[in-house]
Amino acid sequence: MKKVYMSLAAFLMASAAIAQESSVTKTFWDDPINDPMMPVYAVSTMVFIVLVLVLAVALYMVRIVNILIEQSEKDKAAQEGRVYVPRPSFWGRLSQKLNDSVPVSQEEDIDLGHNFDGIRELDNHLPPWWKWLFYGTIGWGAVYLVVYHISASFPLSIGEYDREIALAHEQAEKRKASQPAVVIDENALKYTADAAIIAKGKSVFVGNNCGTCHRADGGGNTIGPNLTDEFWIHGGGIKNVFSTIKNGAVEKGMPAWGKSMSSEDVRNVAFYVMSLQGTKPANGKAPQGDKYIPEKEAVAVDSVKTQASL
Ligand code: HEC
Repeated sequence: MKKVYMSLAAFLMASAAIAQESSVTKTFWDDPINDPMMPVYAVSTMVFIVLVLVLAVALYMVRIVNILIEQSEKDKAAQEGRVYVPRPSFWGRLSQKLNDSVPVSQEEDIDLGHNFDGIRELDNHLPPWWKWLFYGTIGWGAVYLVVYHISASFPLSIGEYDREIALAHEQAEKRKASQPAVVIDENALKYTADAAIIAKGKSVFVGNNCGTCHRADGGGNTIGPNLTDEFWIHGGGIKNVFSTIKNGAVEKGMPAWGKSMSSEDVRNVAFYVMSLQGTKPANGKAPQGDKYIPEKEAVAVDSVKTQASL
């Protein structure tokens, strides 16, 4: 007997291991029609439906038979000149069956003779409805074991989690592939008053609450400096502004947005900041840092030289 138990345990463990391996890759719902367990589930579902239908029909028949019996008993009572006493109803009998309770008048029969301050102990049966519910959970457990651990038609929680993660990764890859990220070359960045980029940048500015520190109009407040004047702590011009927003000045309270934003968003919001230049909002914060004087473009210098040498 011990051997049987051991081999059964080994079988269960092995099938559980197989189940866990395969559940991550493919489960019943991925391809129910071709799943090897499909016929079993289909047949059991059919059997269940048929059973329910048979039961419904049987109950209906019983009702009809009962009505006929009642009628004939009434007739008989009338013939014999007795008063007709109806039998207990179906529901009354059902409730008696389900609860299996002993009527109060017969309690003496099941009295165990233990009396505590007038509280007596009765030897009642467990209510059958409760027992059947309990057996039901055992049956359910067996079905669960087969479906989840042996045939592995459905994934366990960890399998479900892995699948969802894998699916999300797949979708993220697809999304990335369908909209390739704009590559921003920081060193070749040039500011143009591109209305579309500036509009996107404004939504980044609003969406990331830059205004809590720099004021909604960029005029600056106690925390953040004025972004609309020509004075800059970290240098003006699109390249400096881009790099300040990307890398932040963390020790001074300006977050490094490059960690949480795509470089496209940093570019867009940098364009928006640049577009605020000279807007002179009312009560703007006093200038901080140095006045920024744009450098001459390297290319322009070269071309001047070439022209001069000509
Ligand atoms: C938590 C407050 C805070 C938030 C939010 C914040 N900043 Fe700043 N920012 C600062 C502070 C403080 C400085 C000044 C750093 C220094 O003194 O070095 C600064 C500096 C800057 C500068 C450089 C100013 C200069 O004079 O060189 C730019 C540009 C800037 N922030 C843009 C932004 C943008 C764009 C956002 C939103 C994406 C943002 N900031 C959100 C606090 C903040």
